[in-house]
Amino acid sequence: MIVLNLVKSSLLVACRSATNQYRHNITSNLRLTTVRLFSSNGESYEYDLVVIGGGSGGLACAKEAVQFGAKVAVLDFVKPTPLGTKWGLGGTCVNVGCIPKKLMHQASLLGEAIHDSQAYGWEIEKPENVKINWTKLTESVQNHIKSVNWVTRVDLRDKKVEYINGLGYFKDPHNVHVVLKNKTERTLNTKYVVIACGGRPNYPDIPGAVEFGITSDDIFSLEREPGKTLVVGAGYIGLECAGFLKGIGYDVSVLVRSIILRGFDQQMAELVKASMAEKGVEFQVGAKPLSVEKQDNGKLLVKWAFNDNPSDVKQDVVDTILFAIGRHALVEDMQLDRAGIKVINGKIDVDVNSKTNVDNIYAVGDVLYKKPELTPVAINAGRIIARHLFNNSKEVMDYEDVATTVFSPLEYGSVGLSEENAISRHGEDNIEVYHAYYKPTEFFVPQRSVRYCYLKAVALREGDQKILGMHFLGPAAGEIIQGFAAALKSGITMKILKNTVGIHPTVAEEFTRLLITKRSGVDPTPATCCS
Ligand SMILES: Cc1cc2nc3c(=O)[nH]c(=O)nc-3n(C[C@H](O)[C@H](O)[C@H](O)COP(=O)(O)OP(=O)(O)OC[C@H]3O[C@@H](n4cnc5c(N)ncnc54)[C@H](O)[C@@H]3O)c2cc1C
Ligand SMILES: *[C@@H]1O[C@H](CO)[C@@H](O)[C@H](O)[C@H]1NC(C)=O
Ligand SMILES: *[C@@H]1O[C@H](CO)[C@@H](O)[C@H](O)[C@H]1NC(C)=O
Ligand SMILES: *[C@@H]1O[C@H](CO)[C@@H](O)[C@H](O)[C@H]1NC(C)=O
Ligand SMILES: *[C@@H]1O[C@H](CO)[C@@H](O)[C@H](O)[C@H]1NC(C)=O
Repeated sequence: MIVLNLVKSSLLVACRSATNQYRHNITSNLRLTTVRLFSSNGESYEYDLVVIGGGSGGLACAKEAVQFGAKVAVLDFVKPTPLGTKWGLGGTCVNVGCIPKKLMHQASLLGEAIHDSQAYGWEIEKPENVKINWTKLTESVQNHIKSVNWVTRVDLRDKKVEYINGLGYFKDPHNVHVVLKNKTERTLNTKYVVIACGGRPNYPDIPGAVEFGITSDDIFSLEREPGKTLVVGAGYIGLECAGFLKGIGYDVSVLVRSIILRGFDQQMAELVKASMAEKGVEFQVGAKPLSVEKQDNGKLLVKWAFNDNPSDVKQDVVDTILFAIGRHALVEDMQLDRAGIKVINGKIDVDVNSKTNVDNIYAVGDVLYKKPELTPVAINAGRIIARHLFNNSKEVMDYEDVATTVFSPLEYGSVGLSEENAISRHGEDNIEVYHAYYKPTEFFVPQRSVRYCYLKAVALREGDQKILGMHFLGPAAGEIIQGFAAALKSGITMKILKNTVGIHPTVAEEFTRLLITKRSGVDPTPATCCS
């Protein structure tokens, strides 16, 4: 008894003497045991951290946390879609988001390139026979995803993060219950929990939607060709799906309730829409879907109402209807009330340290209330949580000026404020907007339309004119805006931009040549415009 107490107290001393019990790279089992047996309040837990959700945010957090010696488990479980689509470890971005989307966008750009190549001298025997093999495309995309799933699993094993393929829910703030894939159950007792459950697409509450419709969760692995497709919703996911489907050769229409790309700069949004319409995507604005019926020939009869007028009904017959009307966070299965976690509009709010209203529970990624739903945002915030919990870090996640790109065939990249937000924050008199239409050199030869190649910088009017927002519509917009995002974070002004020598001939150099202000009323179209 005396000996045991002695061991115990000396362990406690050892533990307390470290400014932070996780701070050092703890390699010996003894020290690891010390950490787990005597955490700050003297209670002991089976795990230091349980992460619910193995997507962008959860995995980043878990992998960072083990570096500091924490014992970590990650739960990940994917419920199949109504159509039956399911996928592996890694979350939305890898399986049904960024990655397959970018690959299909690329497939669509390559189609345009094949077309353009003839003007550059490539001889294509029967250009009219050039077409996509959907089966081959989805196979290639899915093979890449499976390799990423596999690498992710190996990485977790190497880093000693325990991966549990099961659905988790709270019993109380320190106990997470898991229903494993084989229906066995276990409870994980843990000091901290990070909620990283992400979200899934919504279906409208209309007849036939769930039965006959699909979402972005299904499109990237759809076994049949999509064919003529109706996309419902004009957020970035709807537009991107519409864009690549059109680009690879299918008839596409988009039903828009009211606004295109809500939350984005609306002048740019209208240009994105116009650039897509020019490529043949049809837009039905003011349309609200009413019903989906399956006809005897297997095609879908879709009806929608115009301008909330139930007697103004239009219809179309399509092969596929894809709903992209918004997403909800996966909070419903988690029994958050048992842990006392508050939910606002179906999401979870956190403080600057990403902590929920419950002391030992944190949250990250798409589940968060009023935060950008983007992979790098989730990853950065996830890592910062781990450093905060296990390395005493004071760093906080900066959600300001996060750059993003819409991969509509002609890409729209932006960072910072939209023109309307800059005006509402600073007043129209205090804002200067520089803008221009431009002509990518490589567009001339194949006589591609340059009508929507446009960019603008939104700046303060006074002094050196600090830049508040940058917007670019054109090829490789994501690649271009990424660098300017770092410049904007560093406080770039119009003076600096004008003093920057461009790289010629590129499209990114157009930012260094911005001279015309909107206020001047001068036509921003280049004099020698070609189309
Ligand atoms: C079509 C599409 C395109 C996108 N394109 C881009 C893009 O180009 N760039 C970009 O930055 N972002 C993009 N995104 C957004 C990006 O995918 C998300 O922001 C990101 O995946 C959020 O990460 P997360 O960790 O919050 O959740 P997720 O990555 O969604 O991961 C959450 C995981 O937790 C699992 N889970 C949920 N509840 C439980 C539970 N109770 N128990 C166990 N497991 C659970 C889920 O099944 C899922 O696997 C796109 C999204 C979509 C849908
Ligand atoms: C921790 O220490 C081990 C053994 O010295 C080493 O292999 C490992 O790279 C270290 N990890 C970190 C994150 O420093
Ligand atoms: C399309 O690709 C699949 C998978 O690679 C292949 O089996 C099929 O024969 C291809 N179809 C055509 C028409 O070439
Ligand atoms: C269920 O799976 C877990 C984890 O793979 C395993 O430990 C357990 O033995 C399995 N139970 C049954 C009944 O198969
Ligand atoms: C952990 O904290 C130490 C001390 O502040 C710091 O030097 C180190 O860079 C941190 N490690 C990581 C991976 O952030």
